[in-house]
Amino acid sequence: MPEPWWKSAVVYQIYPRSFADANGDGVGDLEGIRRHLDHLVWLGVDALWLSPFYRSPMADFGYDVADYCDVDPLFGTLEDFDRLVADAHQRGLKVLVDWVPNHSSDRHAWFEDARASRESDKRDWYVWVDGTPDAPPNNWKAAFSQVDPAWTWDEATGQWYLHLFLPEQPDLNWRNPAVVDAMHDTLRFCLDRGVDGFRMDVVHALVKREGFPDVDDPWLSTDRLDEHATHERIRGFRRLLDSYPGDRTSVGEVFILSTAKVAEYYGRGDELHMVFNFPPLYAKWEAAAWRKRIDRVVEEFDPIGAWPTWVLSNHDNPRHAGRYGTEGRARAAAVLLLTLRGTPFLYQGEELGLTDAVIPPERVVDPGGRDGTRAPIPWTGTPDHGWGPAEPWLPWPPDAETRNAESERVDPSSVLHLYRRLLAARHGSPALQLGTWAPRPSADGALAYERTLGDDRRAVVVNFTEAPVEMPVEGEWTIEVASDGAGEGDPYRGALGPDQALVLRPRF
Ligand code: NOJ
Repeated sequence: MPEPWWKSAVVYQIYPRSFADANGDGVGDLEGIRRHLDHLVWLGVDALWLSPFYRSPMADFGYDVADYCDVDPLFGTLEDFDRLVADAHQRGLKVLVDWVPNHSSDRHAWFEDARASRESDKRDWYVWVDGTPDAPPNNWKAAFSQVDPAWTWDEATGQWYLHLFLPEQPDLNWRNPAVVDAMHDTLRFCLDRGVDGFRMDVVHALVKREGFPDVDDPWLSTDRLDEHATHERIRGFRRLLDSYPGDRTSVGEVFILSTAKVAEYYGRGDELHMVFNFPPLYAKWEAAAWRKRIDRVVEEFDPIGAWPTWVLSNHDNPRHAGRYGTEGRARAAAVLLLTLRGTPFLYQGEELGLTDAVIPPERVVDPGGRDGTRAPIPWTGTPDHGWGPAEPWLPWPPDAETRNAESERVDPSSVLHLYRRLLAARHGSPALQLGTWAPRPSADGALAYERTLGDDRRAVVVNFTEAPVEMPVEGEWTIEVASDGAGEGDPYRGALGPDQALVLRPRF
């Protein structure tokens, strides 16, 4: 049986507010994305994941959904969405959309109805608890503040409602079968429009622990959750996806910093197709730290046939080019990210080597402190960077006059061209896409491994340090891709320069 498309794919995350602006209002939109599809085809990615573009009051910039079945006017219309999906498909790009099942917006009709009265037939679609306004039901804290309670007192009806995130994001009650049905309908709505899958937001958190007990770690603890019941709900999503033709897929945001726990969300091949595993994202740029994180994935995922994912940057975390501190390291990290066994997820702009924008206090808009990583993508070197007359909703990232798509595209030594060469190398190598992963003898501060599928082989060598290293790899190899572009096509002589990473192919 051929492997499903999502195993060999590279997924590119688009944060629609910040990708490209077609109507010149300073906020990106769906038509902006459609007009830049050729950039993504030229780059060589296989699939797009669109962060939320649904109707939303934007308290959490779209992760507070007021209508799961409509596009926010800021981003366009459902017709724009259909056109985007059709044009992406025509170019061979798959489309994943973000699905936000844990909570809706407080402005969703369901919540407005639920809040209107204790007798509302939607009341039990959310999580309400009796009490008094002076004492929240337990010690759970809301995610962004980490201090404020995860409960808000509703004056009019005299009960508390639960929100693991902002008060504007009430948690849905996943113990209520009507919620399960209604949310399945929202999945069907997207599946019927032809989407290829979903990124599922905080999907591990859906069902809460019965009785809402106090917990030791009041804002992150899994002790707040009924994981058993959540797994059951996830199996329901899987059955629904599998009932559609064409290998529809899912990738779950399971924000638990334990690879063993993350592995559980693959079920027995009957839960999520893929799960984000965040410990590597939070690892330092050090060979030993990475080796440990990779080994954990091998140990936990391989025995159960779970297909790994790899991610260095997204809309919730500082970009890795900034975290690692130099472009040289970011380049080496790109080689690592795109050659490990599993599906890599790129975050828009990492292919340009972007670092976070500096956000002056008066321009802070995100309650979670994530504005820097969400800066608009500079398309050109002109003062408006291809966005039009209005000031974009966030400041530009650093060095946008040179670090932009147009300038990097004409510069073969750019980070953009490195990503393109790496993606081409993947497409040309079944071993890199789907092969086994095996470590090879590695120098201190460096990592060597081999990928194999049938006759196809690649070796990868990564120097995590600023000093040159000797690291011979058994066999005769040619440099296929070099993080700094040096020596491509030459024989590998068993040594790496500072911060250098290489993809090697057998010489003969
Ligand atoms: C995770 C998303 O990635 C993040 O951006 C969002 O704020 C929370 N979930 C709440 O939906």
